[in-house]
Amino acid sequence: MYILYYFKNYLKKIPRFLLIAITTVIVVLGLSLPGLTQKPVTVSVLIQALESTQWQPIIDEFHKENPNIRIQTIEGPNETDLIEDLYTSSFLLGNSPYDLAFMDIVWVPKFAAAGWLVDLSDRMGDLELSQFVEGDVNGGRYQGKLYRIPFRSDIGMLYYRADLLEASNLSPPETFDDLIQISQNLQQQGVIDWGYVWQGKQYEGLSAMFVEILSGFGAFWIDEDTLEVGLDKPEAIEAVKFLRSTIEKGVSPSGVTTYAEEDTRRLFQNGKAVFLRNWPYVYALSLQDDSPLKGKLGIKPMVSNPMGTSGACQGGWGFGIAKSSKHKEAAWKVIQFFSREDIQKEFILRNGYVPSRKSLFNDPDIVAKYDYYPDLLKVVNNSVLRPPIAQYSQATDILQRHLSAALTNRKSPEAAMKDAANETRRLLR
Ligand code: GLC
Repeated sequence: MYILYYFKNYLKKIPRFLLIAITTVIVVLGLSLPGLTQKPVTVSVLIQALESTQWQPIIDEFHKENPNIRIQTIEGPNETDLIEDLYTSSFLLGNSPYDLAFMDIVWVPKFAAAGWLVDLSDRMGDLELSQFVEGDVNGGRYQGKLYRIPFRSDIGMLYYRADLLEASNLSPPETFDDLIQISQNLQQQGVIDWGYVWQGKQYEGLSAMFVEILSGFGAFWIDEDTLEVGLDKPEAIEAVKFLRSTIEKGVSPSGVTTYAEEDTRRLFQNGKAVFLRNWPYVYALSLQDDSPLKGKLGIKPMVSNPMGTSGACQGGWGFGIAKSSKHKEAAWKVIQFFSREDIQKEFILRNGYVPSRKSLFNDPDIVAKYDYYPDLLKVVNNSVLRPPIAQYSQATDILQRHLSAALTNRKSPEAAMKDAANETRRLLR
């Protein structure tokens, strides 16, 4: 009692303004201390090793702006199927360590149908979504809900050695026949070892490459509206025969049936081939100072026959949030940051990927570095899709198995495509 009485009297002696100031300081410290001492939340994501280093400057910037969130990248293999398997097994086993899923456009139906992803439909309004490439946004939807926010788009292109064509007075190819003839011409002159390199390994890249050849021959894989399967139609068989002929004629090395993107890029970058089918990241790498291809490349959509249309396969990567994540709000902050125009611009300028924000295709700084980007937007807007159906992952597996058997001479193109078509029909029934 006595102590309390003494304390009250003592308080009376302190001037009022000082008392208010002391109380304010105590309250402010009380409120902010937990924030200052809180351990940062870690948001983890699995990505391709190739891209992991390319992300570092963006991650550093994110950390500066968001001291309470750390992004942890876990490096995976460069091939899309292998990363997909790692995500899939972690989600199937439960207790996935990944808060974000950095997803290839073709995984969305499978991941969403399995219930592994958070519905992001209410997180981003239509107006903001309309700033992104339409195909990219649509690729993130499943049964009317949005599960993936696009980060970088992708589009399959044909690269050619403009320097070699010019030196021999040749124009870039328009048709499949041109592609073969120019290749053979330059090979016979001893100018180059190989004509055309493409992704022939049994994996997702094979399907992405093949939709372009199908389109060029006026053929199709699966009609997404009617679910009709076109793989055993004569035009589709012609498309397989064309690919096989590139090997038979020695235009493509026989090893092409084991090549993924990076294998083909290395061969091309070492000056061994005149044509390459690949994604736009190759162009940026060719501009680096130590690249023997600097200033020597041309780029155009895939060639086609008069009956077909030039097809550029729509690819691309974006973010979803894992339903099992304990840090969904922090994960969303990361997505918002990566989606920002200034952040994408910086990333594209450094690494030459295709933006998912439409405005960046005509951005003066980007065009100054990559002058073909305004044209690329037109190609992106007319891209061919791999069928965006719920059973995509089984459908692509069927195609890859049978197509690979045809390309490696284990089956005739007719038999392989008949089997692929029938198996696909059974799947879709
Ligand atoms: C690229 C594309 C992706 C595609 C993959 C195939 O990463 O962006 O959509 O599935 O290549 O290898």
